[in-house]
Amino acid sequence: MIPDVGAVETLDALRAIAVQCTACVLSETRTTVVFGAGSPEADVFVVGEAPGQKEDEDGVPFVGRSGQLLDSLLGEIGLSRDDIYISNVVKCRPPRNRDPRTDEIDMCKGYLRRQIELIDPKVVITLGNFSTKLLLRTTIGITRMRGVAYEWWGRYLVPTFHPAAALRGGERVTNDIRADFAIVRSILDGTLE
Ligand code: URA
Ligand code: SF4
Repeated sequence: MIPDVGAVETLDALRAIAVQCTACVLSETRTTVVFGAGSPEADVFVVGEAPGQKEDEDGVPFVGRSGQLLDSLLGEIGLSRDDIYISNVVKCRPPRNRDPRTDEIDMCKGYLRRQIELIDPKVVITLGNFSTKLLLRTTIGITRMRGVAYEWWGRYLVPTFHPAAALRGGERVTNDIRADFAIVRSILDGTLE
């Protein structure tokens, strides 16, 4: 059954439900439900794809190699983990880090939707194809979607490459993420043109 969490009133109550969730098969192989981390009052909400091995062990999103790169790029626009909130499209690690399946995303997406509603950020950053396609309801790939801010449910959404793509793709991809994060900075500063 799809978890019905649209009326849950607090982030803590939502977390308490998520950590018990067995709505999809990822619950059978996970170690920890990686719900999300950061400030409940954040202006910036970052959405990744799915927990990896280290996240599954620690219960915290983006604590592995991708997370280190992400932290450093966020630092360049003056943001630390305490300034943002960060989570993923699915809250449980897919076995061997395979892609999350459509049925798993459909079961899990209500948690993300409610997290965004409760935190009510100014900007949502989507990292990579899964979060971008889900939230912008598009099938267009990240390479073509990135580089601009979208008006989205009364806030902005800025899609960019996943840091794992930058770890594989090198400085060109990293610089594209930098350019997208500069857009985020200008939204926060009220200087977006
Ligand atoms: N990659 C993701 O998309 N999310 C994490 O939490 C870690 C790595
Ligand atoms: Fe529930 Fe999401 Fe984990 Fe699936 S991935 S068991 S829907 S919390």
